[in-house]
Amino acid sequence: MIEEILKKAEESHELTKEEIVSLLEGAKSKKQRKRRQGDKKTRCVEEQSENYASTLLCIYASDNLSAFQPFTLSPSSHLSLLTAHCSLFISADKIRQKHVGDEVHLRGLIEFSNYCKQNCLYCGLRRDNKQLKRYRLSENEIIALAKNASELNYKTVVLQSGEDPYYTADKMKYIISEIKKFDLAVTLSIGEKTFEEYQAYRKAGADRYLIRIETTDKNLYKKLDPGMDWENRLKCLEDLRKLDYEVGTGCLVGLPGQTLESLADDILFFKKINADMIGVGPFIPHKNTPLKDTQGGTFEMALKVMAITRLLLPDINIPATTAMETLNPNGRLIALQSGANVVMPNVTQGDARKLYEIYPGKICVNDTPDKCRGCIEAKIKSINRTISKDYGFKADL
Ligand code: 5AD
Ligand code: SF4
Ligand code: FES
Repeated sequence: MIEEILKKAEESHELTKEEIVSLLEGAKSKKQRKRRQGDKKTRCVEEQSENYASTLLCIYASDNLSAFQPFTLSPSSHLSLLTAHCSLFISADKIRQKHVGDEVHLRGLIEFSNYCKQNCLYCGLRRDNKQLKRYRLSENEIIALAKNASELNYKTVVLQSGEDPYYTADKMKYIISEIKKFDLAVTLSIGEKTFEEYQAYRKAGADRYLIRIETTDKNLYKKLDPGMDWENRLKCLEDLRKLDYEVGTGCLVGLPGQTLESLADDILFFKKINADMIGVGPFIPHKNTPLKDTQGGTFEMALKVMAITRLLLPDINIPATTAMETLNPNGRLIALQSGANVVMPNVTQGDARKLYEIYPGKICVNDTPDKCRGCIEAKIKSINRTISKDYGFKADL
């Protein structure tokens, strides 16, 4: 069943919602799915084997995923489930290689302000988190970080912040146009703005914009993003498209109340809007938010959503997200071998890294831009991939 679905996806890059749900479940057939729901013992075994699969994924992270092949021959139920998991990742890796090649595109991430006027229930930067020490970098500090990134051979910087009205369109225009002088592509990730603001940034030289839809389940969105409007978020994506940005979106995996069906809808949504970039990350509960006692997402489910996204959108940019590495020490390398082709190392300096605490356990909070650059280069080389010297625009992949 899984193999048939994967074959179809590899050939047509189309899947139905039901097929996506099957891949997310990892179940082999409807019958087996029923048994899983009905039989406690079976479920327990399968849960164990999910852990087993994760463990093996870690062990083999630095090798090619084809290291799994020998295991796929075993008839035992543990291993057949493992096969189902791995064949999805192997398939996504194959499609990634065929359509966007072996180059990994680095984007230097500048986290320039942790002020946010919004109050998303899942996020550590939400305005009601009074425990967080807030910071803002000055225009010149931001420009200096970008200059340093270009000296470290980054070809793109991502300017990210909470929704912080301090940075007016004029301030952003100045920052963007100065950074463009360093021959960098500029990606913005600063939230919901008006068409006119997006237009002003674009005119100043911004190339790409990231704004995750977070979830396509409108009821869930309403509960988790009080005061925000899902339709407006969609309008932002449409406005950005009209302005000829490269448009990135994405979702959180493991939000409380989120279902596999809803994750399948998210993936189909990415396809429908013809996104240029998709970032998928596990939701990681933060102690100073209303969702502190919820379970959060798993590395493996986020990886599956990412891998299926690659199957359906073969030629887009997909980052191995930092949140994945927070849940698995080899998370980014595993993601790079399961469909991803982008990494976004942090190029922020000093305390800001720690204070940009969207979720706990963020990696690299005590590191420097140089250290992260060297570290990621070594990691990428260890899996026989190369670092791109280009801007990595989707049209040129
Ligand atoms: N865990 C993981 N990711 C989160 N984000 C916000 N809160 C969390 C969390 N607790 C993600 C959102 C947002 C991006 C900048 O960070 O998807 O778009
Ligand atoms: Fe602000 Fe974004 Fe966090 Fe929501 S997810 S509180 S908009 S930084
Ligand atoms: Fe920061 Fe590895 S990427 S230390």
